Amino acid sequence: MRSADRNPGPRAGATAAQSESVDESIAQERERVLHHEQEQDLAASAAAQALASVAAEPGSSKPDPILVAKKVSRRFGGLLAVDVEHLEVQRGTLTALIGPNGAGKSTFFNVVSGFDKPTSGTWRFNGREMAGLSANRIARLGMVRTFQLTKALTRMTALENMMLGATDQLGEHFLPSLIRPLWRAQDKQIEVRADNLLEHFNLAHMRDQFAGTMSGGQRKLLEMARAMMVQPDLLMLDEPMAGVNPALTQSLLGHIQALRDGGTTVILVEHDMDVIMSISDWIVCFAEGRVIAEGRPDDIRSNQAVVDAYLGSQRALPRKQEE
Ligand SMILES: Nc1ncnc2c1ncn2[C@@H]1O[C@H](COP(=O)(O)OP(=O)(O)OP(=O)(O)O)[C@@H](O)[C@H]1O
Ligand SMILES: [Mg+2]
Repeated sequence: MRSADRNPGPRAGATAAQSESVDESIAQERERVLHHEQEQDLAASAAAQALASVAAEPGSSKPDPILVAKKVSRRFGGLLAVDVEHLEVQRGTLTALIGPNGAGKSTFFNVVSGFDKPTSGTWRFNGREMAGLSANRIARLGMVRTFQLTKALTRMTALENMMLGATDQLGEHFLPSLIRPLWRAQDKQIEVRADNLLEHFNLAHMRDQFAGTMSGGQRKLLEMARAMMVQPDLLMLDEPMAGVNPALTQSLLGHIQALRDGGTTVILVEHDMDVIMSISDWIVCFAEGRVIAEGRPDDIRSNQAVVDAYLGSQRALPRKQEE
């Protein structure tokens, strides 16, 4: 006779209680997923609505632009790498920046985020002029970017990278070796925020691991999490998926969409057209430093200037999937 048969009462009771709590947590999880999906739908439809009446043409005005660039150029010797006449990015959207290699996407990011100086031009972020401000100052005002090649410091732990992200972006000056004593003195809040973000980006288990031991995908996540330390209004991601194991790509994409759904405006530079077409609210196409097209995914898919730019670079634009 099995022990369960000898004394079924209490075990049966425990099992009922257990299954009740399992049912409850399944219901809670379902509720959470549903709520998240509703939020996602709301954010996506709000972004789509805001852009519904915007003309799909270079330089078009947006109803509530978070970023407005005017005549921004960057010349390297004889090469005009960026030559943007007018560009507006609508607040609350996921806007993609596409274009063949060397089109000027990263250089444009460098200039507007304060990491490089323009040859000419001005740009407003949240209604405020940014030209001449340092990258730290711009980050503190809420515009933060990540880099095409990750800048995670490999000999620091994930948490240290996060902490440095906050202080670095907040414009404090100190050597990394001073970090530990500084933490003790500093507000615990930053650490709590770092832990929350690590948790949010599924990196909590890597908290005390050196960034050098993390996979390429995890480092990209870490970089995104680090950029979020200053709670930016605008996050500029330069090829966040590059070099990431395909198994992690979906989760990275989910994180990017979740940032938009949470109210952060996102500008994404990405080469994978399937990704771009599926997640973007708006697409801006660069070629030879200029904005050659703007529009919703469907506008861009059928835009001749975009097709020509990509054909010229031997990089084909994927056709729309049959539904
Ligand atoms: N520091 C620099 N000095 C000289 N030329 C540069 C510099 N940075 C970029 N360039 C040139 O400016 C042009 C635009 O480069 P950029 O990196 O902005 O292109 P991109 O659109 O980001 O390309 P990719 O898709 O390959 O990342 C290229 O011709 C590049 O070689
Ligand atoms: Mg680039």
